[in-house]
Amino acid sequence: MKIVVAVGGSILLKENTHKRFTEYGEILKSLADGHEIFVIVGGGRPARDYIAIARDLDAGEAICDDIGIEVTRLNARLLTLALGEFAYPKIPHNFQEANEFSAYGRIVVMGGTEPAHSTDAVGAILAEYVNADLFVNLTSVDGMYDKDPNKFEDAKLIKEITADDMLDFLKDKNQEAGTYEFFDTTAIHMIKRSKLKTVIVNGFDSKNLIKAINDENVGTKIIN
Ligand code: UTP
Repeated sequence: MKIVVAVGGSILLKENTHKRFTEYGEILKSLADGHEIFVIVGGGRPARDYIAIARDLDAGEAICDDIGIEVTRLNARLLTLALGEFAYPKIPHNFQEANEFSAYGRIVVMGGTEPAHSTDAVGAILAEYVNADLFVNLTSVDGMYDKDPNKFEDAKLIKEITADDMLDFLKDKNQEAGTYEFFDTTAIHMIKRSKLKTVIVNGFDSKNLIKAINDENVGTKIIN
């Protein structure tokens, strides 16, 4: 399969050490044997810290986004270190480059591209660009809930949802630099138009990536 994996910076940098990079590096290497893999790395806490400093320096939103993008690219480089020769050594700046680099038969790792969306959207656009079979989003929660699980004890995990229902659900969420809470709506629009098979799973348990690829009952599936 051709698989696009988006992994949040908040997953890889949770402990602020190399450990999660190594863990995901090993899993991605094992997947590279039978699949064509693209990985999009998020910014996490460092991106939000840098964006906050830029904002205090009166930078506009697009500049703040650009600062966030630089951090995602830096995180992407760290993942290429963990992947060694399994990774294409350059971080693509755009989708065309990502597609070109994949022709060398290695895992392509990238960060953000341009302002006004998150790396979730980069993953969804890339998946459309390369005509991927599957888009897996590794995030810091188990999937999408019917209400905020931090506030409501009876919040239920939604196993399957259409892109339209998801857009409706997220329509009032904040989309400023560094503030994409769960999944950004640009990503959902892309998923909708390309009928992209998408699974959102908790990336703190790296086995969830394998489960999502094996179509096991895990996380939230976006259905068409
Ligand atoms: P992330 O995609 O990592 O945002 O990009 P996030 O969802 O807040 O963070 P994690 O990794 O899941 O914890 C960080 C920031 O970089 C900018 C946005 O401001 C985003 O919030 N960004 C990123 C862009 O503007 N364009 C991109 O293509 C990617």
